[in-house]
Amino acid sequence: MSRSKGKSICLFSAKGGVGKTITCINLAGIYEHLEKKVLLVDLDLSSGGLSMGLNRPFEKTIFNFVDDYNNNRYKDFSDYITKYDDYIDLLPCPKDPRQAGKIDAKYIDLLIDKAESNYDIVLIDTTHILNEMNVITLDKVDEILFLMTNDPLDLKNMKSIMSIFKDTQVTNYKIILNYSINPYKDYFSLFDIKNIIKANIDYTISSNFYIKNIDQYVMNGEILTLQNKMPTTFNKDYETFMNIALDSLEEKKVKRQEGEDDA
Ligand SMILES: Nc1ncnc2c1ncn2[C@@H]1O[C@H](COP(=O)(O)OP(=O)(O)O)[C@@H](O)[C@H]1O
Ligand SMILES: [Mg+2]
Repeated sequence: MSRSKGKSICLFSAKGGVGKTITCINLAGIYEHLEKKVLLVDLDLSSGGLSMGLNRPFEKTIFNFVDDYNNNRYKDFSDYITKYDDYIDLLPCPKDPRQAGKIDAKYIDLLIDKAESNYDIVLIDTTHILNEMNVITLDKVDEILFLMTNDPLDLKNMKSIMSIFKDTQVTNYKIILNYSINPYKDYFSLFDIKNIIKANIDYTISSNFYIKNIDQYVMNGEILTLQNKMPTTFNKDYETFMNIALDSLEEKKVKRQEGEDDA
């Protein structure tokens, strides 16, 4: 029996350090609660925060996938996967940053196709740069989750990217305003922010979600949303993560129904 195609989601931003990697990991935990098979793809090719944050030893990486494919050695997608737990898998970034530059962006399309046919959800972590690799990725995925903060520089960059999205008719994105990165920065009201970026905010992660010892979780490879205390301690933000995940699954269903109607 062939399995139905999974949904691909890329986390993107206009600035670095806005919480893409942490959100990617936390969302994976939520999809696990929903009993979905998740693949995390570390497309932050030269820093690899995701590969570090899951803290599992790995051998094969995106580089091996592309290299093997290019040299007719590719056999099975699972050969490049590192298991985190029963629901979450990882496709790690290259071990040697020099390999990052050798990855031809033209293989990303193929990589995402393979990932979608093996998983319910494919979560892709990126950098904030609009390079060829990221442009291809943004174009290919089913949905873009745009992370932003209330930092002035971020707002300025966000405004430019939103206008590029408008010009190029990109509409498959949701914006997450993340107050947990700079809980003390509040120069701009929500009204100001929407006005500056000329876009709506779909979800907000509150400053309550600022976690002092977050590095401890990262270094231990623990996923916060899988901790027993998470739903009670971070009640509202847990609900937000859950809504992001449920909305993405719901939209997939709608999309598929439309497809079926067309057939
Ligand atoms: N909820 C949080 N509480 C405290 N620090 C956070 C939180 N989320 C992210 N951070 C910290 O902010 C920094 C940037 O987060 P990260 O997810 O790496 O951003 P990006 O992937 O967009 O560059 C990291 O040092 C991370 O530990
Ligand atoms: Mg990152």
